[in-house]
Amino acid sequence: MAFYVTTPIYYVNAAPHLGHAYTTIAADVLARHMRQRGEDVFFLTGTDEHGEPVALAAEREGITPRELGDRNVEHFRALLPQLGVTNDFFIRTSDPEHERRVQEVLQRVHDNGHVYKGTYEGWYCPRCADFKSDQEAGEDHRCPIHQIPLDREREDNWFFRLSAFQEDLERLLAEDSDFVLPRHFRNEARAFVAQGLHDVSLTRARLKWGISVPWDPDQVFYVWFDALLNYVTALAFAREGDDLTERFWPATFHLIGKDILKFHTVYWPALLLAAGLPVPQHVFVHGFLLMRDSSGVEHKMSKSLGNVLDPFEVLATYGADPLRFYVLREVSFGQDGGVSTAGFAARYEGELANELGNLASRVTAMLARYRDGEVPRAGLDPELREEIDATAGQVCAHLDGAQLTPALDAAWQPVRRLNRYVEERAPWALAKDPQRAGELDRTLASLAEGLRVVAIVLAPWLPDTMDRLLDALGAQDRTLASARYGAEVPGRVERLAPLFPKVDLDTAAA
Ligand code: ME8
Ligand code: MG
Repeated sequence: MAFYVTTPIYYVNAAPHLGHAYTTIAADVLARHMRQRGEDVFFLTGTDEHGEPVALAAEREGITPRELGDRNVEHFRALLPQLGVTNDFFIRTSDPEHERRVQEVLQRVHDNGHVYKGTYEGWYCPRCADFKSDQEAGEDHRCPIHQIPLDREREDNWFFRLSAFQEDLERLLAEDSDFVLPRHFRNEARAFVAQGLHDVSLTRARLKWGISVPWDPDQVFYVWFDALLNYVTALAFAREGDDLTERFWPATFHLIGKDILKFHTVYWPALLLAAGLPVPQHVFVHGFLLMRDSSGVEHKMSKSLGNVLDPFEVLATYGADPLRFYVLREVSFGQDGGVSTAGFAARYEGELANELGNLASRVTAMLARYRDGEVPRAGLDPELREEIDATAGQVCAHLDGAQLTPALDAAWQPVRRLNRYVEERAPWALAKDPQRAGELDRTLASLAEGLRVVAIVLAPWLPDTMDRLLDALGAQDRTLASARYGAEVPGRVERLAPLFPKVDLDTAAA
């Protein structure tokens, strides 16, 4: 089965931060999991390089937008391997192949009769280079962002007949539809459509930095239409000589933050319908990561705040896995949630080191001490079978709906079960009694096998550490099909360096 997952393409006006990493990590977990299931996966991320946000940032720095994009795109690219992210392609909207295809698709939208010339009139902020709604302009007609007086401006441009898709969108977002997940965001999109859709500007006359409009070269396309189309255009040129569109379109999941819900759940499907293209299967909307300060108050993440969890610092000290685990464990995917350095430290120690890391160390160390690293061929304790065997199925069911939080929770349960099992069986006590050697054999074999299954199921979240663990367990088959109790009982187990060692942040930073 084809599985196509995307992240938003991020603006290159600034460097990436934890919010960007968050969506990309989530998409990577899905992509890795689906590859484990043997699905035909394509995972796309990239950068959004046109439009006012980039043009203005470049102007402030006294360089061209292209120069700014070329510089900042490297930060976004460099972050991916640091996060352990396995995207199949990285698109830049300044790629000429993208530009040409945007022109083709939007020409088709025009030829299909969904575009007309009109005049946009409204309150304009020269600093934003954008029109503000009456609501945003407020009674005193000031820019809510820059606090400067707005100008009353008129601009002749081309409009997209969004209003013509009112009924299609009502159907797409109907009560029983899973086009937008989770449900509360579907309702938000529905409420927006229910107010009645207005046509929107498809082009900009005053902006030069963008893709030129084939039927009116004085104008460029509004950055959002150019950007949204990346999800389709990338498939056509990601692999030279191999157009992947048939194979992967429509997308299985677009993952996005709630800030861009309207564009992805309303504008995007309407644009696709206007172009005669199939709409994606699902848009999964997640919440904001908020920064919790030392008094427990939560703020939207921003660099000007003091107590910010710096992804680069965490990555340099701990590597990718703890950060991947932390953001997806701490914040319920689909809700807002606070993150903090204190919260990170608590999860790292409490769960990664003391639960999973400790389990792996104990099992491998006991096998080394009591059995020279040979896993006894002693049969498996049936007591563990049901719970271990249920895990992969539960994780699959949750991830079919991109429900990353319950999926990780399900994957974590056998870690706890196996730790309880160690306590219950007390292998160190069995080892003192030669009469109970058979019992010890079976306990150790069951733990090694349970640990192998746990490592496979958790690998999409913790790819590097679980790979090391599976290496130590000598696991050959790392597909999800082998995440069954007894499928590939380890033969020999190697000693394992601590997976989540204690890190002294003060010395690590030095
Ligand atoms: O909107 N919490 O780009 P952008 C969680 N170029 N996620 C966050 C976040 C936070 N505090 N901050 C950012 C754009 N994100 C457009 C998108 S797509 C065709 C064009 C993530 O650089 C989240 O995924 O502003 C959000 O939707 C995205 O970054 C916005 O990135
Ligand atoms: Mg933004």
